[in-house]
Amino acid sequence: MHHFTLLGLFILLSALSRSYAGKVLVFPADASHWINMKVLIVELHSKGHNITVVRGSSSWYIEEKSPLYTSITVDTGEFDDDFMEKFLPQLLKMQRQGRSFWNEMALADESYRRLTEIHQQICNMTATMFENKTLMNSLKDAAYDIVLTDPAFGGGVLLAHRLGLPLVFNVRWTVYGEAHFVIAPSPLSYIPVPGIQLTDKMTFSQRVMNVMTFIMIHYKNSKYFGSPYQEFTQKYFGPDVDFLSLLQNADIWLMRNDFTFEFPRPTMPNVVYMGGFQCKPAKPLPDDLEEFVQSSGEHGVIIMTLGTVFGQLLSEINDEIAAAFAQLPQKVIWRHTGPRPANLGNNTLIVDWLPQNDLLGHPQTKVFVAHGGTNGVQEAIYHGVPIVGLPLAFDQPDNLSRMQAKGTAKIVDFATLDRNVFLEALKEVLHNSSYRENMQRLSRLHHDQPMKPLDRAVFWIEFVMRNRGAPHLRTQSFRMSWIEYYCIDVIFTLLMIFVLSCFVIYSIIKYLCFKVVFKKKMKSE
Ligand SMILES: *[C@@H]1O[C@H](CO)[C@@H](O)[C@H](O)[C@H]1NC(C)=O
Ligand SMILES: *[C@@H]1O[C@H](CO)[C@@H](O)[C@H](O)[C@H]1NC(C)=O
Ligand SMILES: *[C@@H]1O[C@H](CO)[C@@H](O)[C@H](O)[C@H]1NC(C)=O
Ligand SMILES: *[C@@H]1O[C@H](CO)[C@@H](O)[C@H](O)[C@H]1NC(C)=O
Ligand SMILES: *[C@@H]1O[C@H](CO)[C@@H](O)[C@H](O)[C@H]1NC(C)=O
Ligand SMILES: *[C@@H]1O[C@H](CO)[C@@H](O)[C@H](O)[C@H]1NC(C)=O
Repeated sequence: MHHFTLLGLFILLSALSRSYAGKVLVFPADASHWINMKVLIVELHSKGHNITVVRGSSSWYIEEKSPLYTSITVDTGEFDDDFMEKFLPQLLKMQRQGRSFWNEMALADESYRRLTEIHQQICNMTATMFENKTLMNSLKDAAYDIVLTDPAFGGGVLLAHRLGLPLVFNVRWTVYGEAHFVIAPSPLSYIPVPGIQLTDKMTFSQRVMNVMTFIMIHYKNSKYFGSPYQEFTQKYFGPDVDFLSLLQNADIWLMRNDFTFEFPRPTMPNVVYMGGFQCKPAKPLPDDLEEFVQSSGEHGVIIMTLGTVFGQLLSEINDEIAAAFAQLPQKVIWRHTGPRPANLGNNTLIVDWLPQNDLLGHPQTKVFVAHGGTNGVQEAIYHGVPIVGLPLAFDQPDNLSRMQAKGTAKIVDFATLDRNVFLEALKEVLHNSSYRENMQRLSRLHHDQPMKPLDRAVFWIEFVMRNRGAPHLRTQSFRMSWIEYYCIDVIFTLLMIFVLSCFVIYSIIKYLCFKVVFKKKMKSE
């Protein structure tokens, strides 16, 4: 009897908590971006929403079968997915040989070319979907409530527009660059363009650099990345539809970012910050790891993860790093694949995988050696562990330079890295307490908010489902051309009126003077 009451209560409760259960169509970006999207999917699934994921047939990150979602696999043909494997080692080697302007230009061109191919591929995949009447009809019939997408690639934006569905972004980067720059006012006087490692306090020459970089990036992004989508948009939606305004038209922007990380800047009512949404309290470590960590005693441990690319290639760098570690009294846990570095000290434990979040949350952890990539920086902030940064490419140098500007990280340049430089950096972060204190302060600020970032993200996704969009939070800027946006037309008109009235007044005065002079002359004659 008692059991039945409990069961009834349970069913009632779960029915209540599922009362907003909706249907979500997810168009994720592949590779590391998928890790972030999956965090949201797990949470949405646990709230009882029905999730469908669109994936390309060549994707090997996004599983076809999952208990969390049903998937729709779209044929993408063969696709060369070794961008990272080939490109990053090239980049590393170049940094070691010393940077030259031409080298860098060539490499930037190469990476733009590769990325453009991926964008083209996404357009082809979306076209395959649009051309498949059976598929489009079944998507229409399924009556989804929203499309959730990562606008680093534009497929989800196009699909949402075709299906006429509200659109929610899980975003840091869009096709056109950093997300804020696409929707929010971004004065270049105090907002550094991502990628050039400036802060919000810029000198005159830095501002010149900031503006020039902005113009170049903006031009290149629309030329290389935007144009496949623009062509697609005009082909399928007509000549006066503009891809950028479809993008800006999204209902909610769940930004993987917050102000412990970002410099303060203007934002928009439909931007929701969820930086740190992927972080969780640390769980206990596996026994062998816990034993190793405890054996470090008062000195504590150093955690190092740099991703997989480093392992294979630069054994000379790895040897130097190992030699530096060997000179420290701390214990080191190093995630490393590939050949075993020479000079390895007996205080260093090499593992091919480590529970990064749990280790960062361990009280014995003193320093985190990181490349500034996916989630590492955010997890370090969450747990308040200072960083020694070895940045490599993309937005990693920028991620770390922000941390350095806040006094929570020390950056070591690959070009100059050897055992002494690395050891000095480690010692500084270990012994100068300001790094740890600053990071702990950021961590406290990050935790001191009314709602957990993940709960906030899910709230807003459900909000859009309940209310069929959030147009009341959306500014009208997406309808405007840049001439209207900056009121160039108004300024020009007012200027014209001013000039014209000056001219008229001048003419009248001239005319009157002339008349007076003329009359005088007439009289004198
Ligand atoms: C995309 O499709 C076009 C035309 O069907 C084709 O020429 C092109 O090679 C495709 N691009 C990629 C990256 O698959
Ligand atoms: C169209 O989509 C349906 C459903 O996903 C699929 O079974 C079919 O093979 C697709 N047709 C073509 C021509 O790709
Ligand atoms: C979720 O939606 C899909 C697509 O409409 C449907 O095939 C599936 O049965 C639904 N799953 C649940 C558990 O309702
Ligand atoms: C590790 O090496 C150091 C010096 O190289 C030595 O003093 C120490 O005893 C060694 N520890 C163990 C457990 O082997
Ligand atoms: C740092 O860079 C990576 C890509 O290299 C990105 O995915 C991540 O969101 C960035 N930010 C943080 C806080 O880690
Ligand atoms: C610690 O580091 C900070 C910031 O780099 C610096 O200003 C300070 O002088 C250092 N303190 C010591 C004792 O070295």
